[in-house]
Amino acid sequence: MQHELILILDFGSQYTQLIARRVREQGVYCEIHPFHLSADEIAAKRPKGVILSGGPSSVTDEDAPRVASDFYEKINVPILGICYGMQLAAIDLGGRSSPAARREYGHAQLKVLSGATRLFEGLPFELDVWMSHGDHVTELPPGFHQTATTGDVVTAMESDERGIYCVQFHPEVSHTPLGKEVLRNFLFNICGCTGDWTPAQFIKEEIAKIRETVGETGNVICGLSGGVDSTVAAVLVHEAIGDRQTCIFVNNGLLRYNEFEDTLKVYNENLSLNVIGVDASQEFYSVLSGVTDPEKKRKAIGGKFIDVFEAEAKKVGDAKWLVQGTLYPDVIESVSLRGASVTIKSHHNVGGLPEKMDLKLIEPLRELFKDEVRLIGKDLGIPDEILQRHPFPGPGLGVRILGDITPEKVELLQKADRIFIEELHNFDLYKEVWQAFAVLLPIQSVGVMGDFRTYEKTVALRAVTSTDGMTADWARLSHEMLAKASSRITGEVRGINRVVYDITSKPPGTIEWE
Ligand code: XMP
Repeated sequence: MQHELILILDFGSQYTQLIARRVREQGVYCEIHPFHLSADEIAAKRPKGVILSGGPSSVTDEDAPRVASDFYEKINVPILGICYGMQLAAIDLGGRSSPAARREYGHAQLKVLSGATRLFEGLPFELDVWMSHGDHVTELPPGFHQTATTGDVVTAMESDERGIYCVQFHPEVSHTPLGKEVLRNFLFNICGCTGDWTPAQFIKEEIAKIRETVGETGNVICGLSGGVDSTVAAVLVHEAIGDRQTCIFVNNGLLRYNEFEDTLKVYNENLSLNVIGVDASQEFYSVLSGVTDPEKKRKAIGGKFIDVFEAEAKKVGDAKWLVQGTLYPDVIESVSLRGASVTIKSHHNVGGLPEKMDLKLIEPLRELFKDEVRLIGKDLGIPDEILQRHPFPGPGLGVRILGDITPEKVELLQKADRIFIEELHNFDLYKEVWQAFAVLLPIQSVGVMGDFRTYEKTVALRAVTSTDGMTADWARLSHEMLAKASSRITGEVRGINRVVYDITSKPPGTIEWE
């Protein structure tokens, strides 16, 4: 079934994915494509509308990114230009845009001008908006009229006849409180969308799709990590083909406190998955013995994981498919106008396994953002303890124990981490942060307990706020909460006599310590 589609052409804005999420929140499916997608390819997708995103370039640059030369001629559906997209439409259609005397960045008050405007229909005459731009339109293209201003600049323009609507501000960010209404006007009134994309609809269609892809014979393997993505993917496949899917959940000995046992129970009892729990802790500890370099640890853990997983997968007869929880942000062809980004840390997954075992991939979440995966998980009856769980790195506590890893250190860290997380829940702060955890440091310091001098280990507590893990800020947790966590850790975990709180943002730090 072809859903209504809004197509976003990406000019490299940091907000492009946010535009897509805002559109989908309205129940309209949308896709992000690089700005250079040809007009024929765009037309073939039969979108109801096209959005030109913002971007870091200036349209006056010689090598500024542009839409295909026949774009305006061949695309006959409504177009919304946002920020850079507005400048582009202005100069492409015969107007002018120039670099502003100063960059406008931050809050602004916008006034909707009297006269016809479909984009601002039904909205107040004054709006708070968020601006971030260096260029501004100095001459409107023929057929356009200005629809809003922030004083001296053209903040919005449209030509209903040509079906092109442009805004200088960012309707997609939360700092533009009525931005959602602007987008709704575009989607529903202008493009004529009805909003035919819902979690329930997605689940129904995806189950049918999986059944069709897999067919009548052959089995499916799925690696579970205890996290949101692999669990939702597994439950969807289970709904489609039941026990023809075998899930494999490996305990690498580096999971959180009791996580292996607790999660396995949820998989078995609440979700009725056909799951094999493999406790390979000792095998991981032995390959990690004496390894202190962070990248060597990651490689050792990743390598061992593949060995263990492959050995289990081989036991599943007639395996033809491997389920992966790939999400939409991993699929979008990213537009990098500032050069390729460097790999800071190598992440592992079941890399290489599909080719080695000749398995084909099923990726039921390929079209979804993380928040949509959670919504779908909720509809599928997956408990909150899994859906709301903070992200956890593949190498687990292995990159949170600085220096070499031993089972004793793992146990110390698990206990401290559990207390920190418990107190976050007690103070109702767990959902406020993106990720929170404890890190075991390779140092000892002097303390005093009762009448005795102690010389024991230190843990650092780390809690960050973030929207995607790419950048992060340290969470301003309440002093009371931190005090409680600290006194409980030093009181209850023998072997730790000092607790510190990490106040480094990313950049310059990373979220994990290794
Ligand atoms: P950093 O530490 O790079 O982390 O700021 C960003 C996000 O990625 C997670 N992370 C990993 N995830 N394998 C993973 O699967 C890894 O090796 C790894 N290293 C970091 C981290 O927990 C955070 O959410």
